[in-house]
Amino acid sequence: MKLAAVIGDPISHSKSPKVHGHWLSRYGINGAYVPLHVTADDLGQTLDLLPRLGFRGCNVTLPHKEAVFARADQVTDRAARMGAANTLTFRDGQILADNTDSLGFLSNLRAGSEWTADTPVVVLGAGGAARGVLDALTQAGVPEIRLSNRTRAKADALAELFPNVVVAEWLPDLSGAGLVVNTTALGMAGQPPLEVDLTALSADAVVTDIVYTPLETPLLAAARGRGLTTVDGLGMLLHQAVPGFAAWFGQTPQVDDALRAAVLE
Ligand code: ATR
Repeated sequence: MKLAAVIGDPISHSKSPKVHGHWLSRYGINGAYVPLHVTADDLGQTLDLLPRLGFRGCNVTLPHKEAVFARADQVTDRAARMGAANTLTFRDGQILADNTDSLGFLSNLRAGSEWTADTPVVVLGAGGAARGVLDALTQAGVPEIRLSNRTRAKADALAELFPNVVVAEWLPDLSGAGLVVNTTALGMAGQPPLEVDLTALSADAVVTDIVYTPLETPLLAAARGRGLTTVDGLGMLLHQAVPGFAAWFGQTPQVDDALRAAVLE
């Protein structure tokens, strides 16, 4: 049986077992994907033991993404740019580390819209999630990214890592933007909404949110109300899971409505 896991602390909230479980049954693969609660103290032993128990790899969630990157034997370029990994493959006694968050973001955006990388993008928020989004947009060739964060110093620090990122005020003017990305916690269930003025956006602009609880955040609802294309955050979670599944279980899986429904159950 082919085995993979997701490790984190906490872990019970993770939707990854539903994603991989759906694909395993859909493709008739004799495999299992299990959530494992792993504390920082147990991380080193867990990474030694999983391959010896026959695991082919694992996903990694908070708070271990930086620690597993530091322990890896080989890292992909995109993981190196993040200094963090979310997908590990165990092969020939080595740990290969990848970071698929930026791929998940772009794949979701492209699957859900006609977005092209030729106009300025506004990114709201400057936390860990924003870094992956900025990397994805930079790699896609976006000419100008306007980064806006409540705490400006964090935006300034992040902007130094990316030549095409300029820091904008909080909350920013959206004039001329072809894409608006929310990476803040605002709009998540239990949080206040993100109240940014959408009136300056042109009719072909796209608005996306990495928050997916609720699926339609107040920001996305307001954008939809203005007739703009919206892309919800669930797809990012689904698309970022594709490379791991392909590496561990030998089948490149599809992200489709059946998967979305299974994960939302
Ligand atoms: P993540 O890894 O999900 O990005 P994070 O690193 O904790 O999480 O970042 C959370 C982001 O949401 C930050 O940009 C944060 O802004 P600050 O840097 O000013 O804290 C933003 N955020 C959270 N609550 C917010 C609020 N009430 N108003 C504005 N921004 C908020």
